[in-house]
Amino acid sequence: MQTDNIFLIGFMGVGKSTMARLLAEALQMELIEMDETIEAEQEMTINEIFAQKGEEGFRDIESALVERISQEKKAIISCGGGAVLRAKNVENMKKSGKIIFLTATPQTIFERVHNSTNRPLLNNNMNVEYIAQLMERRREIYEKSADVIIATDEKDQDMILEELLNTI
Ligand code: S3P
Repeated sequence: MQTDNIFLIGFMGVGKSTMARLLAEALQMELIEMDETIEAEQEMTINEIFAQKGEEGFRDIESALVERISQEKKAIISCGGGAVLRAKNVENMKKSGKIIFLTATPQTIFERVHNSTNRPLLNNNMNVEYIAQLMERRREIYEKSADVIIATDEKDQDMILEELLNTI
């Protein structure tokens, strides 16, 4: 029986929320979607938080949530794409569970997110080149943080879920 937290990390649009939900259902565990939790607690959208408090203000809220989640051990957590940018967050995650990094190519990400407007970092940069650049800047952090890496390109949800379950 899985008792530690499982953190799904990776770039925006890689499918963390969907896979976290399916994994939580399969394992009968609690699901925490970080951005949804932040929006509910702050009573603001992610766009509004970025606009009012800036990215650093958002990161402070995000870090406080990671710290809180890490004090309990029992959920599947869909992390915001930048949640591993602060080393302290990664440290907190590792202390309380396992980190699984979902990957996809910039092209796949673009296809999944190009109609969405709720990601402030992409709102004025919605193109494959920008996604590739930002992904490259973060790649090492994602890789170093991860206990397990799962590529999602050209895989359906069932295949990804099976891989997730096999690593747990
Ligand atoms: C961010 C990812 C978003 C959200 C915020 C910042 C990032 O979450 O936390 O817009 O820096 O990668 P998703 O990965 O769930 O889109």
